[in-house]
Amino acid sequence: MAGCTLWFTGLSGSGKTTISKIVEAELRRRGHKVEALDGDVVRTNLSKGLGFSKEDRDTNIKRIAFVCDLLSRNEVVAIAAAISPYRETRDHARAMIENFVEIFVDCPVEVCIERDTKGLYKKALSGEIKNFTGVSDPYESPESAEVIVKTAEETPEESAQKILKRLEELSYIEASASVEGVYSEEEKEELAKRLADLGYI
Ligand code: ADX
Repeated sequence: MAGCTLWFTGLSGSGKTTISKIVEAELRRRGHKVEALDGDVVRTNLSKGLGFSKEDRDTNIKRIAFVCDLLSRNEVVAIAAAISPYRETRDHARAMIENFVEIFVDCPVEVCIERDTKGLYKKALSGEIKNFTGVSDPYESPESAEVIVKTAEETPEESAQKILKRLEELSYIEASASVEGVYSEEEKEELAKRLADLGYI
């Protein structure tokens, strides 16, 4: 199985982590090797000490891209889930990684503010946190993402299914055998016998 990189990009609170976790679990279930690099987690180790200036964000993204490249060259599905607000930096990641799938987790900033899962938008709006993406710092939407999910309109499961379907279309993963999990071993045998009796197989 060839590896690839699933590059999730979108505002804080747009749903990158939630959706990527569903995709990650499903890919594992289907027998893929998967490794996830989530922005919040990366910033506690690989990028510890980096801030949110353009320069620091770019350094963060380039580090994540470097690791994703190593992983996806070795048959791993690498998942990156960081805001990655700058188009040029994402394009740099795309250029250095062979099987690159950009996934735009699209959600209006108003909805992210409403959700405010970490309470950071409140602080950004009051000015307590400076340079906050979508409020006081830019977010440049992708222009040619392989997948766009709209999390104000879809459930996380629907978004995850959309991504998996696209990965099948792009031949990065095999289409899931719909028979799996539907029939028991006995039922499958019985079905095969009947089809054989009818001369189909
Ligand atoms: S990125 O811009 O370098 O891609 P990354 O995804 O790693 O960002 O980290 C974003 C997370 O850091 C947010 O989800 C939020 O929890 C936190 N954060 C803290 N300060 C900021 C800020 N100024 N802008 C955006 N996110 C911030």
